[in-house]
Amino acid sequence: IFPKSVEIVEVGPRDGLQNEPVLIPTEKKIELIDKLKKTGIQRMETAAFVHPKWVPQMADSEQIAEYCREMNYIALTPNLKALDRAIAAKTPQIAVFIGASSAFNQKNINKTTDESLQECEALFAKAQENGMFIRAYVSMAFSCPYQGEVTFEEVLHVCQRFVKLGADEIDIGDTNGHANPRIVYERFAKLRDLFPDTVFVAHFHDTRKMALANVVAAMQAGVDKFDSSVGGLGGCPYSPGATGNLATEDVVLMCNDMGIETGIDFEKLKEAATFARQLSTRL
Ligand code: HMG
Ligand code: MG
Repeated sequence: IFPKSVEIVEVGPRDGLQNEPVLIPTEKKIELIDKLKKTGIQRMETAAFVHPKWVPQMADSEQIAEYCREMNYIALTPNLKALDRAIAAKTPQIAVFIGASSAFNQKNINKTTDESLQECEALFAKAQENGMFIRAYVSMAFSCPYQGEVTFEEVLHVCQRFVKLGADEIDIGDTNGHANPRIVYERFAKLRDLFPDTVFVAHFHDTRKMALANVVAAMQAGVDKFDSSVGGLGGCPYSPGATGNLATEDVVLMCNDMGIETGIDFEKLKEAATFARQLSTRL
């Protein structure tokens, strides 16, 4: 019931750093990306073409993208303006993000769920014309700091639209870190049943120290792609109280012990994690 191998997508340089209150010099971010590249990680989220006023830490995304141009990196593109910036930077993979909860969307991207889904139509079409790979996040897929419980129907509503629009993968996010193994197992099992041809990714936060248990539960439901953040960096600026993402070194260590291949060198990863923690004022 466990996969032979899993893909670990490193989101530290974006999801990890976006919430750091003190601006980190671009060269330091590049040094982190470089250390991560040396671990054998194949795919990383490194940039966010979001409004620099909303997330100042990501204002150097063009320079980061320029450094990453030979890599298979992902950049967040919440709207058409962001997509144009990604196209100009020749970004290979983009990520859109919509919360299953409308209250969160209003805070995070200034739109309701249905307004965001509407905007996605033109965005997907243009990204597809440009040959880009599209990752589609369903954030707050288990619970939400603004509305509390998030129902499976709310998650399904967003997933259905993403599938219809032709997302290359759907990333189910426990953005505030309140999921538990049971709900994770149940939601992924149902989603995989309803959308057998869709690639699902699991994205956990470790707010209540259940991220690894949630990884195991998702594996048991057939998921073999996971996001994690080196050093456990992270938190979302619009998710009060959420602490870091699942730490990459934790999930790689667990997979090593379980005989599940990740293709990542653990010793080099530990070095990258030490460096990542030095960049953070919160760890
Ligand atoms: P807005 O202010 O509502 O945008 O921002 P607008 O369309 O009303 O435009 C206002 C002005 O902003 C205009 O300029 C636009 O040109 C400009 P003006 O005409 O006034 O001079 N503008 C932009 N400039 C640069 N880049 C852009 C852009 N868009 C408009 N892309 C927007 C809407 C979506 C841009 C804003 O709300 C935003 O940037 N939000 C980002 C929020 C964010 O990054 N949140 C964190 C990521 S989500 C997350 O962490 C969860 C996730 O990790 C999953 C998980 O952890 O579970 C994915
Ligand atoms: Mg996250």
